[in-house]
Amino acid sequence: MSIGNKSLTGFDRRTFMKNAGVAALAGAGGVATISQSASAQESSISIPRLAGGKYDFDTPYNRVGSDCARWDSPPLRYPEGTFKYGMGVASMDFECAPCITEALQDRVKHHNWGYLSSTEGLRNGILRWNGEHHGLDLSPDAVTISDGVYPGMIAAMRAFVPRGNKLLLSTPAYSGFYSMARAANVEIVDSEMEYKNGRYEINWEDLEAKMTPDVRAMIVCNPQNPTGNVWTEEELLRVGRLCLEHNIIVLSDEIHADVIRSGYKFTPFGRLPDEAVVNNSLTFTAISKTFNLAGMKNAYYYSKSPIMLGRVNKHHRAELSTLGVVANEAAYNEGWDWFQQANSYMDENHTYIENYVKQNMPTVGYVRNEGTYMTFLDFTKTMETIGAKEQHRAHDKASPEHYFQDWLVHNSGVYLNPGSDYGSGGAGHMRMNIASSRLVIRDVLEAMAGAVNKA
Ligand SMILES: Cc1ncc(COP(=O)(O)O)c(C=O)c1O
Repeated sequence: MSIGNKSLTGFDRRTFMKNAGVAALAGAGGVATISQSASAQESSISIPRLAGGKYDFDTPYNRVGSDCARWDSPPLRYPEGTFKYGMGVASMDFECAPCITEALQDRVKHHNWGYLSSTEGLRNGILRWNGEHHGLDLSPDAVTISDGVYPGMIAAMRAFVPRGNKLLLSTPAYSGFYSMARAANVEIVDSEMEYKNGRYEINWEDLEAKMTPDVRAMIVCNPQNPTGNVWTEEELLRVGRLCLEHNIIVLSDEIHADVIRSGYKFTPFGRLPDEAVVNNSLTFTAISKTFNLAGMKNAYYYSKSPIMLGRVNKHHRAELSTLGVVANEAAYNEGWDWFQQANSYMDENHTYIENYVKQNMPTVGYVRNEGTYMTFLDFTKTMETIGAKEQHRAHDKASPEHYFQDWLVHNSGVYLNPGSDYGSGGAGHMRMNIASSRLVIRDVLEAMAGAVNKA
């Protein structure tokens, strides 16, 4: 397989071109080129403006047949062939930063895969990245390297939430928090956010009312997946002080910290201007969203409180892989340039989707994302029209949103994540991943508009 010229030996490119609806891109030989399609670009909303630039995010990169959850899992659920577009699970469709591929290629020249001796280079990369991009001065012993946010969070839940006690979550929030809690045998209490002035806001009265003595930890998701909030310093301080007052430890999930839209500013919980609040927290993060390295199993958590860090470490053991360390180190050291272009591409994808939905899908509600490459669309009206509430029971589906998920695949080929998986407040909504070529996004939007406007 040659990465440079995008030949995709071993992957079923023909199927991908057909399934992803990018046939319009194919030239006589069936090979997509940017110049062909870029020449057709206009300012109209129905045709996306392509980015060009140093790295190519415009040409759809074939992932079908690579055993990827985003494109290869849904067809297992829809074996009849109705599935076309994987816009669910949080991974990017882009070809990864060349520095990562080069580092991996270099390492595979050496043909021995015994145990690793050191993760010093990785740790240095983590410290430098946090200093340069988040203004955080972390000491090396304050950081524990992990093989995912999941194992770190589960360890923290085991450390801080004894059996019979609870964990607080401001929802809608990442569905994985519920699976982590199940693994740690911990009950979650949802505090549903309010949708106000086009933004999800914390319901402060409800949040504080739910800070009962049996609540021992709270997850803060910043930026919030799936609603896209980039929490302000004031909001984080207010949450942090309430938690302190009620003896609740803050577990801050910042895995989407780098994916911030222009005009918004990310504030790490660990940099809040209140030492007591910071010392009552641990942060769990990674660059696996930043560089699409989820399969490389690498993350870390840190705390300014050595006591709290030690308590979590007792429940945690990381099993890193050599290739994961190589890939992450390369990304920390050399990936910034690639990520900047990727981030502005995704920012424009958000704007394109916002304009398209507002103009062409008037019954669908749009929430403006401040961060993450997710968007949380409100399909309440379509769900009412198709009777999703009644139909989900008749079809034995977990929720109306799960029924709608199937309906959308059958009527448009588009696979989205049901809002009901994200806790209270997710009803009527579906989560869409926007980290794809704008040409794929265009086909997805047109297919969804066709289905929804006909319902
Ligand atoms: C908010 C959030 N936390 C954690 C994860 C999963 O992290 P990891 O793959 O490192 O376990 C995700 C993945 O989408 C996420 O969105």
